[in-house]
Amino acid sequence: MNCFHYFTRHWRRRSLESELKEELKSQNSKVNGIAKSLSASISPRGIPELYEEKAHNLRVFSLAELQRATNNFSRLLKIGEGGFGSVYKGSIQANKKEFISVAIKRLDPDGFQGHKQWLAEVQFLGVVEHPNLVKLIGYCAVDNERGIQRLLVYEYMPNKSLEYHLFNMAYDPLPWKTRLEIALGAARGLAYLHEELEVQVIYRDFKTSNVLLDENFRPKLSDFGLAREGPIAGHTHVSTAVMGTYGYAAPDYLETGHLTTKSDVWSFGVVLYEILTGRRSLDRNRPKTEQKLLEWVKLHPSNRRNFSLIIDPRLEGQYSIDLARNVAKLADDCLSKSAKERPRMSQVVERLRQIIINADESNPGEKNINLFENDDLLDREEKSNQPNPSKLWQRRMAHLAKLGEPGETAIGRRFMTLQKTKSGS
Ligand SMILES: Nc1ncnc2c1ncn2[C@@H]1O[C@H](COP(=O)(O)OP(=O)(O)OP(=O)(O)O)[C@@H](O)[C@H]1O
Ligand SMILES: [Mg+2]
Repeated sequence: MNCFHYFTRHWRRRSLESELKEELKSQNSKVNGIAKSLSASISPRGIPELYEEKAHNLRVFSLAELQRATNNFSRLLKIGEGGFGSVYKGSIQANKKEFISVAIKRLDPDGFQGHKQWLAEVQFLGVVEHPNLVKLIGYCAVDNERGIQRLLVYEYMPNKSLEYHLFNMAYDPLPWKTRLEIALGAARGLAYLHEELEVQVIYRDFKTSNVLLDENFRPKLSDFGLAREGPIAGHTHVSTAVMGTYGYAAPDYLETGHLTTKSDVWSFGVVLYEILTGRRSLDRNRPKTEQKLLEWVKLHPSNRRNFSLIIDPRLEGQYSIDLARNVAKLADDCLSKSAKERPRMSQVVERLRQIIINADESNPGEKNINLFENDDLLDREEKSNQPNPSKLWQRRMAHLAKLGEPGETAIGRRFMTLQKTKSGS
């Protein structure tokens, strides 16, 4: 889906260190200046200060290392492409003995996103830490005769994105329960950003392609290039140039450029409807009245009989209609016209938790993944040795096996923890 970015490229030929420091200083002085003028007693620490504290956690890679890791950015290792550039699967040395798989994003110098987003990604992901946010391992920034090279190295997420699993027919449909759990995990990631950090973070680009899935289909939000710090004390919003993705941005934000955490809540509501229906928020290939998802679902409200017509037919009836109505009601609340009336993400988390508890009670046989505690599924599977009873899940496994690459079964590839290889190949 197209992003609409207003972005002036501002390349500077300087070392990363001085560049980051400069950026930090300027942001520091801006934040501090405004904060001081508001109240001498309030001196909130912003992302730049927090980044300075935590930056040492990030590894700085040389370009040669990342070339080796990706077989010189071989097309065979390319796993995706977005507005930032191409994404490659690579293998880097984690310690003396082990190699781990990583995802390496390489800025396309001709792309419409750029250095500013790269920097935001490094700074935000360098600070945040949560099981539902993708982990940034490190970065590479060099300016050489071939131009400017900006790369990001992330933990590798073997099950691609929610977008693939909802809309790509090559994949089996996600089971009902898995959909709910993915929604809950993603909501947790947003709630952490909005409410649990020293500084409030507005994500600004919540959409299915930015919800990556790990080996156990647990979701992690990626792409912090558009993230912004929330308003400083005494302010209700941040004023920004409008950025984001068509089909997901809140109408109030589009109209005024006033950004709040409630803009993310709107996007979450859109994704909830995408999860329920298996349809994209904007789909030009459908009949006119069905192209805009939010307009189409309005014709089938959750309290009407015809509501079931919007549920993803690929679920083949394997869901609870009552709980689906609850999810739709929650989505409607997130999509309230007035931003103030939208729930906070912590309230969304609570409502989704309740829905999942009810799903477990109505279908105890499906209690196979517990995302409430983010504990390690593999550990628990080993302990209980219980086979997964969900029919849809089993069909999914069989299908993934069929999609396997030569010499490596898809099940093995998709369901292991950070992949370890003997060499960098
Ligand atoms: N950490 C990761 N592990 C595994 N695959 C990844 C990782 N990060 C990205 N990808 C893959 O690369 C694809 C492209 O990601 P990217 O974020 O660059 O673009 P996008 O989200 O599709 O679009 P946009 O530029 O609008 O954000 C993803 O859909 C995913 O399949
Ligand atoms: Mg993305």
